[in-house]
Amino acid sequence: MNTNTRTDAGATVAADRWTGWQRARLDGDVLRFDEADGIGRALRDGFFFVEQPPGMSLATGDRFARRFYLPADAEDPFTGFGRWSQDALGPRQGYFRREEDQTEQFFLESASWGDVYAAELVAQAEAMRGFALAVLRAVLAELDLPPELWDEATGGCLSSRGTYYLTFNHFRPQVRARGLNIHKDSGWITVLRSLEPGLEVLRGDDWTPIDPIPDTFIVNFGCAMEILTRHSATPVAAVAHRVVEQPRTDKPDRFSYALFVDSSLNEKVCPGLFGYLPGHGLRLEANFGDFLTEIVQNTYKKGTTGLY
Ligand SMILES: [Fe+2]
Repeated sequence: MNTNTRTDAGATVAADRWTGWQRARLDGDVLRFDEADGIGRALRDGFFFVEQPPGMSLATGDRFARRFYLPADAEDPFTGFGRWSQDALGPRQGYFRREEDQTEQFFLESASWGDVYAAELVAQAEAMRGFALAVLRAVLAELDLPPELWDEATGGCLSSRGTYYLTFNHFRPQVRARGLNIHKDSGWITVLRSLEPGLEVLRGDDWTPIDPIPDTFIVNFGCAMEILTRHSATPVAAVAHRVVEQPRTDKPDRFSYALFVDSSLNEKVCPGLFGYLPGHGLRLEANFGDFLTEIVQNTYKKGTTGLY
């Protein structure tokens, strides 16, 4: 039965909700999937759900996500973050708002966490980064990529030399616009905290809603992973995704936040994005800084998509 409807993005929306996404938990350094070929399906889907590690509190990040955009209140250190700009923090960091998207966002790289975030938020950011890197290692162990190449191939991100962002999204219900434009994440993996409906992923030609699962993160694979593994025996898809327009409701506004793991921007550590050729090794495919600039610009402009 084909009950799809066409959208202005050129793809279709699946009227029948697909729910066969993969779910895993991290057990030591191994991902245990609920289904027998869970890892294979997750690599093809471009994302999977992973159980939050026991004992990781997300209350501080949730509170920041609900308050960072509010006018500064001397009684509340989580307000007033709209004043932080790229001029103060560096490229692609600080508070951003555009009329093309409902989101207003706060981006911050790990080098600045201690200067800008309260100590308890730094602790959560570091816990999420540690978890993201453990998940990345567990995924790499499932790939056709020799372990001695892992750190070089991933631009130093396994040896604390990568680029790690914690990014917050607040969806402004008073703005009539898409929630967040179609894009693929740029890097290796993203660990996403998302509690409300609204996220959709491209499955074949269909935009498919993702229903959140309590107590799980969503792990997205990004472009760097897709480029690295494209010619290997275990190709990984980077999932194209978007957030649809959020209606005005009586409920609290939608928020999400994510820990992004990207390669180092230091060309001595990471000369660029590599592809892995089995039997040959790593081959440079693109300059990472140029790639990042292009995909970020395309994500946030009207009439473009953050794809490559
Ligand atoms: Fe994303």
